Amino acid sequence: MFVAANWKMNLDKKLIFEFSKHLNTFKFSSKVEACIFPPMTYVDYLNSLISNLPISVGGQNCHYKKSGAYTGEVSPLFLKDTGCKYVIIGHSERRILNHETNDEIKLRAQSAINSNLKVVLCVGESLIDHEKGSALKFVEEQLLESLPNNFENLLIAYEPIWSIGTGKIPSVNDIEDMHQHIKKFIFEKTNKKVKVLYGGSVNLENINNILNIVNVDGVLIGGSSLNVKDFLAIYSAAVKHLDKF
Ligand code: PGA
Repeated sequence: MFVAANWKMNLDKKLIFEFSKHLNTFKFSSKVEACIFPPMTYVDYLNSLISNLPISVGGQNCHYKKSGAYTGEVSPLFLKDTGCKYVIIGHSERRILNHETNDEIKLRAQSAINSNLKVVLCVGESLIDHEKGSALKFVEEQLLESLPNNFENLLIAYEPIWSIGTGKIPSVNDIEDMHQHIKKFIFEKTNKKVKVLYGGSVNLENINNILNIVNVDGVLIGGSSLNVKDFLAIYSAAVKHLDKF
């Protein structure tokens, strides 16, 4: 079970320091893995504050080149060097606002894996595709075009675009079908099993319902991860969920 916190472009040094104070008094479980994705500028700082805790730190994106004339970009090697274990690739905000295509996302994911990072590859359909009933097909296409060539260090995050930051989430059946579809599709193509996280408006109210869905291997939390109490409560819900088995 994996609980990932995508802070996006939020929380400054002072707030990160406060956040980490709470983390340092919390009792983490070995059953649930956690990773925080802070703004790039604070990767090193956060890492230094929580290096004694069983939580990883990750980057919110990385470039496909390892070095060179790419102003404003971040090399996967630098993420690794500053202590990152994971990197998010292909988040819908990057796809939409930075025009990252599936081809580019594939290159970024591959380069991150080659740099010994674990990749959380995001996929998810728009509201139009959801309403047309073509979500499965759309995500299948994204996977087909953006999957890297090795899968050992790959997780998928299913994040319907219309659910991100809106408070709306798909039905239990839709999440279950999508996660099953993603796993089946990747297994048929590669003979490998991947973990699939759900992301999009995960909060304290819906976490238990989401965790109860078959084939949900964890969550990628945005807004609710900015408040340390909510983040830790969601984490605790995941621990409790596993204790049931
Ligand atoms: P949200 O964001 O939880 O605020 O909807 C999730 C994400 O974009 O990863």
